[in-house]
Amino acid sequence: MDKLLIRGRERLSGTIPISGSKNAVLPMMAASLLTRGLTTIRNVPDLVDVHTMSNVLRIIGAKVVFEDNVLQIDTETFNYPEAPYDLVRKMRATYYVLAPLLAHMKKAKVSLPGGCVIGPRPVDQHIKALEALGARIRLEKGYIIADAEELHGCEIFFDLVSVGATAQAMMAATLAKGDTILENVAKEPEVVALAQFLSSMGAKIKGAGSDIIEIKGVEQLQPTDFTNIPDRIETGTYMAAAVITGSRLTLEGADQKNIKTIIRKMREVGATVKTVKNGIEVAGPSVIKPTDIHTHPFPAFPTDMQAQMMAILSVADGRSVITEGIYPERFSHAPELCRLGAQIVIEDNKALVTGVHKLEGASVMASDLRASAALVLAGLVADGETEILRVYHIDRGYEKIEEKLAAVGAQMKRIKEGDDET
Ligand code: UD1
Repeated sequence: MDKLLIRGRERLSGTIPISGSKNAVLPMMAASLLTRGLTTIRNVPDLVDVHTMSNVLRIIGAKVVFEDNVLQIDTETFNYPEAPYDLVRKMRATYYVLAPLLAHMKKAKVSLPGGCVIGPRPVDQHIKALEALGARIRLEKGYIIADAEELHGCEIFFDLVSVGATAQAMMAATLAKGDTILENVAKEPEVVALAQFLSSMGAKIKGAGSDIIEIKGVEQLQPTDFTNIPDRIETGTYMAAAVITGSRLTLEGADQKNIKTIIRKMREVGATVKTVKNGIEVAGPSVIKPTDIHTHPFPAFPTDMQAQMMAILSVADGRSVITEGIYPERFSHAPELCRLGAQIVIEDNKALVTGVHKLEGASVMASDLRASAALVLAGLVADGETEILRVYHIDRGYEKIEEKLAAVGAQMKRIKEGDDET
């Protein structure tokens, strides 16, 4: 398995290009199954998760070509409505194919996603929504098996705010007969991007980005050519790199309107953030101030930035409290940060972080995607060398991270499995 080596305490400077959003493109890829023909998606990040979703689409029978960050999905002849366990277990979001397959082919068999290191992640709201739209669903031998003669419009009130369930219901309702009203939906920018993608296919959707989404079912959708939005979590992570190293970075292509809460918190810890032509500029402070973080659905502070924020607060001048409001167990990065010298105590869904003057490089283990990003950030500011093992987690969600950071001055390299380190 590859590993990353980082020699810390380098000042960074320059421009980092922001890639397309991982979490926006995955449901769009699944949504291409709502029609037949050639769909093109631009600004697609070259990530393991995108390749995993491509493989799921190939198994279903689509032809998928990915080149120069452009994805072409030809669904002219797809005919196999199944997503098997050995692909779904690699990435939860592959279950997004459930609703498009059901809506278009009237049946689907998709493996249940299984365990997840960030804690339990049930799919009851997905099932509730699809059943309300008229699907018959049964769980059998680890699979969700769904069929419907016809999906019909309905009103759904989600018991909790879920990005995945909102996306799933929205996709299914586009081809349902009649009108659907979804209440208590997720307002994340990725949900809005999916609504725009579906609208470009001919769907009739109103209200994405608010608490209520209304969908007028149409007979059929058309293939589309769509440009993906920038990745707000990648943007936040590189903002964190500037802050933790006290450096100035320009993040090219970043969309500041989707990261207001992240910008606010970066300012609270002492950063200067300003909008520049085609992006944002972040300058880290000489002394990082402590702050409290509470993660919640958008527009509150995102859980996907919690680990990176913990890395920053580990070297703040004082004590911070991080409360995880979405995944109460999402703290696997805390013990690894402590191996680098951080002082973090976990109590239920809270992390009490006492800032230390410096971190010391050590060997650490990446346990999930955003946890790995936190370890990279800590490595950038730690004394000496930090070795991050199991970096395949980071390849799921950060396009060319070591190249992007090395280009702005980080001493960071990848050791490929089997390579000699010297
Ligand atoms: C998406 C993101 C993930 C992010 C998360 C929360 C993708 C591919 N992933 O995941 O990076 O961390 O949003 O912003 O976009 N829940 C239920 N029942 C359900 C569905 C969800 O109880 O049927 C709970 C979950 O356990 C969690 C909360 O609802 O506590 C929010 O989860 P959800 O918004 O669905 O996350 P995902 O869509 O899986």
